[in-house]
Amino acid sequence: MLQNPKRYTITAALPYTNGPIHIGHLAGVYVPSDIYSRYLRLQGRDVLFVCGSDEHGVAISMKAKKEGVTPQEIIDKYDGIIRKSFSDFGISFDNYSRTSAKIHHDTASEFFRTLYDKGDFIEEVTEQLYDAKADQFLADRFVVGTCPKCGNEEAYGDQCEKCGSTLNATDLINPKSTITGETPIMKKTKHWFLPLDRYEDFLKEWILVGHKNDWKPNVYGQVKSWIDGGLEPRAVTRDLDWGIDVPVEGAEGKKLYVWFDAPIGYISSTKEWALREGKDWEPYWKDQDTKLVHFIGKDNIVFHCIIFPVMLKAEGSYILPDNVPANEFLNLEGNKLSTSKNWAVWLHEYLEDFPNQQDVLRYALTSNAPETKDNDFTWKDFQARNNNELVAIFGNFINRVVVLTNKYYTGIVPSPNELSEVDEATLTELKAYPAVISSSLERYRFREALGELMNAARLGNKYLADEEPWKVIKTDPERVQTQMYVALQIAAALRILCEPFLPFTAAKLSRILVIPTKE
Ligand code: MF3
Ligand code: ZN
Repeated sequence: MLQNPKRYTITAALPYTNGPIHIGHLAGVYVPSDIYSRYLRLQGRDVLFVCGSDEHGVAISMKAKKEGVTPQEIIDKYDGIIRKSFSDFGISFDNYSRTSAKIHHDTASEFFRTLYDKGDFIEEVTEQLYDAKADQFLADRFVVGTCPKCGNEEAYGDQCEKCGSTLNATDLINPKSTITGETPIMKKTKHWFLPLDRYEDFLKEWILVGHKNDWKPNVYGQVKSWIDGGLEPRAVTRDLDWGIDVPVEGAEGKKLYVWFDAPIGYISSTKEWALREGKDWEPYWKDQDTKLVHFIGKDNIVFHCIIFPVMLKAEGSYILPDNVPANEFLNLEGNKLSTSKNWAVWLHEYLEDFPNQQDVLRYALTSNAPETKDNDFTWKDFQARNNNELVAIFGNFINRVVVLTNKYYTGIVPSPNELSEVDEATLTELKAYPAVISSSLERYRFREALGELMNAARLGNKYLADEEPWKVIKTDPERVQTQMYVALQIAAALRILCEPFLPFTAAKLSRILVIPTKE
């Protein structure tokens, strides 16, 4: 783990533009990465938080086919919807790009070309699955079959989403084309393979030895089982018509595998940001003092812990991720969230039902985040989190402090008189919270951090309940000045502490408490 880095590059998985964003995406990736980025910015750190739309791959082609429109129309539509959801929910990206952007095509091509020129690929003609009826090679989501590792019958040609394993399409048992339902035949074609097997020693040393103690057990465990099971060369090109051209002779009509180009999207998004801001992008990816952190869902672990790092290592001039704090999945009312089955709470629809209630959802998702195991989102829990925690604890404290300050002091913060022992103890306890919350956040424990924020609000409630300024005001108004001063210190601290988690609430508190902020 890099101690005291000079700067941070924080990435959030690029969402596929084959549908809008739902609560599972928010809970697993975008809210935690946003909390982390906001927290580091509040510390005055140099932070770059990037993301963008993942616009290649079979998922997009399939959606276009289904809707009878072009892939371009699909990506334009969902890129627009996704962008708006992120901005509506306060996800504070420094840049949000798209993999259809020219800067990305150039960056990904150049990256491939560099590895190609260095002889890092194996070029080989092999037999691949082919749908004779559709006249098309079948890769990735164009083919489903039984996973040879776990028996899941709906594994894709490149990955089983059930056990997380990466697969080659030819590994599938009983493969079927998702285009025609036909059983594929075998046909010869040339591709470029990344020889992952040659990097086993590097991966063992870097992850199994180097990150045994600082990576989450769910991430470390998965990676270890793949490495221990042995790695194979993996094709990074495809016979498809949607994607980035393979930039070498003899590869006409072939495209880069979407999982080759997409993570390079983090780099192109950084370049786009640097161009706009007049900055140098390279330190954010190449300086050993930079802490690179990838926020992803568990189905992306293999790509971010094995394949992309091998690409970065092979290229030679890049740093490797310091951590990949992947989350498990969030279910909805007991069932797996699914874009294709339309089982989801879509963010744009949430806002129609709960206008301006972004922080309530951010709160509910963080306090129930699937950090160590899959979790279930239920509307009953959502309601309880809002009523019994956010409103009853946090909101109630702020409300009482503001009402009393207005009533007794026309809204002006009173000067304290002599502090009692309880006052001193309360302020001492309050002062410990920033370090406590930091310590949780530094270890990617977002639920725990949010729990501590609520404990700080509880401290405020307890103080008011014990001190009862509304009674004391009749007998000892001088004492109440001190009590309200202490309560207001707590309220002001809550304003700062809540900002990473509840940015809309924080902005509101700045207005109510008249705390000047940079924004
Ligand atoms: N689009 C992928 C998904 O939704 C994530 C891509 S992450 C990146 O699962 F690294 F490739 F960018
Ligand atoms: Zn499997």
